Amino acid sequence: MSGYLITFEGIDGAGKSSHIGAIGEVLQRAGRTVTTTREPGGTPLAEKLRTMILNDAMDPMTEALMVFAARRDHIQQVIRPALENGHVVLCDRFTDSTFAYQGHGRGFSHDILATLEGWVLADLKPNMTLLYDLEPAVAARRLAGARAPDRFESEQASFFNKVRAGYLQRAAVDPDRFVILDADKPKDLVWADLMGQVEKILGLPSTFNELYLQRSFEGCV
Ligand code: TYD
Repeated sequence: MSGYLITFEGIDGAGKSSHIGAIGEVLQRAGRTVTTTREPGGTPLAEKLRTMILNDAMDPMTEALMVFAARRDHIQQVIRPALENGHVVLCDRFTDSTFAYQGHGRGFSHDILATLEGWVLADLKPNMTLLYDLEPAVAARRLAGARAPDRFESEQASFFNKVRAGYLQRAAVDPDRFVILDADKPKDLVWADLMGQVEKILGLPSTFNELYLQRSFEGCV
């Protein structure tokens, strides 16, 4: 496959989602074809599953099966075709979320998750995973009052401490794929770190620098 799969991960409130649209714009201006998508979701079927996953009570195995069912559809319908067509795919959350949230957060079996991942992803692996790392207490302050919390956002700090530790553990065993961004920095600095990493992996032209400075001055949210 000729494209690149770049995934964005982190606990709720770490600030990754606000960067994804902006980075997609910059990459497009630099001449790349970009597919921006998210999980759970990214297809009509997976978006329906997302609504249930975020809102309906269910046991941890059901939750794990549903996120992988959504992922299967997303990979088949969107991610693989985009990669085969040479796109840069920017995905807001992917399989690392499942290990962090369902595995570490809920305490569900990592072996079962690994089996499901093997079925659903087969040989697919992100080229780069950007982990927005942040203290759960800081993330909670950022989220406070923003909107009605979903089933995950309403979890306690202890849940997010486990999720964060799970992410850092995954990053430690796969350092070539993971880039850890300090999401506690001012947003412009996190943005600059992010662009530096994306430039490194995609080998973008020198005009990219200008584009990203321009974008950051436009003020990334
Ligand atoms: P999120 O991506 O943070 O979207 P928004 O910013 O719109 O809230 O929300 C998705 C939630 O789903 C998030 O709390 C993490 C959770 N999730 C899992 O528990 N497992 C998964 O495999 C995925 C992809 C997400």
